[in-house]
Amino acid sequence: MKKWTLNSWKNYPAKHLPKYEDEKELDLVLSKINSFPPLVFAGETRFLKESLSQVVEGKAFLLQGGDCAESFAEFHPDNIRDTFKVILQMALVLTASASLPVVKLGRIAGQFSKPRSSPVETKDGKELPSYLGDNINGIEFSEKLRKPDAKRMFKAYSQAASTLNLLRAFSQGGFADLRQVHLWNLSFVNKSDQGKRYKVMQEKISDALSFMEACGINPDSNRRLRTVSFYTSHEALLLPFEQAMTRVDSTTGEYHDTSAHFVWIGDRTRQPDGAHVEFCRGIKNPIGLKCGPSLKSEELIKLCNILNPKNEPGRLTLISRFGADNVEKFLPKLIKVIKKEGFNVIWSCDPMHGNTIKATTGFKTRTFNNILQEVKNVFAIHQAEGTYAGGLHIEMTGQDVTECTGGAQKISEKDLSHRYHTHCDPRLNASQALELAFLISDEIKKNSKYSKNIIQAAS
Ligand code: PEP
Ligand code: CO
Repeated sequence: MKKWTLNSWKNYPAKHLPKYEDEKELDLVLSKINSFPPLVFAGETRFLKESLSQVVEGKAFLLQGGDCAESFAEFHPDNIRDTFKVILQMALVLTASASLPVVKLGRIAGQFSKPRSSPVETKDGKELPSYLGDNINGIEFSEKLRKPDAKRMFKAYSQAASTLNLLRAFSQGGFADLRQVHLWNLSFVNKSDQGKRYKVMQEKISDALSFMEACGINPDSNRRLRTVSFYTSHEALLLPFEQAMTRVDSTTGEYHDTSAHFVWIGDRTRQPDGAHVEFCRGIKNPIGLKCGPSLKSEELIKLCNILNPKNEPGRLTLISRFGADNVEKFLPKLIKVIKKEGFNVIWSCDPMHGNTIKATTGFKTRTFNNILQEVKNVFAIHQAEGTYAGGLHIEMTGQDVTECTGGAQKISEKDLSHRYHTHCDPRLNASQALELAFLISDEIKKNSKYSKNIIQAAS
């Protein structure tokens, strides 16, 4: 293996990176960003890795969710709060009904850049470069705004910093207190079946808290009942930015990408001899790797060896995203090879990216049934292979959007236009996300390997 340096990725072919016209300006922006404070601290990242190693062993579950693409336009405290609420609710459903600790990881505070299937977009006969995410260019269909503009990275950094600041305040400042579970429910979910199921659980939690209070254990005396650990993640796509945010941790001398606790490599940029893999192999953060239909077994072995040469549990999360109909064809092969090689990985399921379709009305959408089906199939496959389905990776929002069809609100293709706000892929709304959490908790309860772990944990 050649020596890794902060910019050794530049010696490898890089897909999906923007071409900036003004290189001088790009260098200026990057050197400024390099002088900005880190967004996360290496010690937090190590805690996350430690928690993820529990997921590898089947003793915890990883929940990763948030926008497909964060945007400058949707930047609002209410949006951050509501996404956070839904993640807390989903985690609570999983913890309460499947008795499983949940590692909470937002696709948030830095999830801006997007790889696109086509480099250009055509509208009314006019062709422009595709939108690549708010930290690179603008979504408006104008020649000027579609030009990559390095200065947008400043705004993205600043938005990520204030988002993270609010998330830290929510996590530690009382919002996540278990006595507040009733406040996490969003009004539009209240009346749905999920809302009702959630209320029943809420009451059980209140009873349990009263019981514990009587025993002298309450959130005031026990920090863990009133705070949560919440981590951030995004796709490590825009390598010049990731490099500028990568620093040497003074306590260990190791490199950490301080733009987020966890970063992942997308399905389009995971070439073993590509720039994104080269960059990620040198940083100590936990890494995700999207696994789609074109990933060959031999390639996956190579990638595991490159990205996790010490086979450290918690370092590597494989995020399968095949689509409900394809997962049976592709996933078992990959699971077998990972088992055979003895790699320590988390298997997480992204039921979104393999299920994207175009509605007759022209909107990019996903049907909730396909999403549920992929999750169910993934659980059944892991059950059959004797492996642990340890995570869920979803695109969701706390807003009452109409972007994915189906679910308890029975959103139809015609309804999509009502509240379709995403800057890229369609997201689950809070009601759909909660429904999915209940389904997963039922699936986990069925998983025999997990039941074994509960028995072990209880004994
Ligand atoms: C994403 O997670 O937004 C994404 C682009 O996914 P994938 O790389 O799996 O297509
Ligand atoms: Co997406």
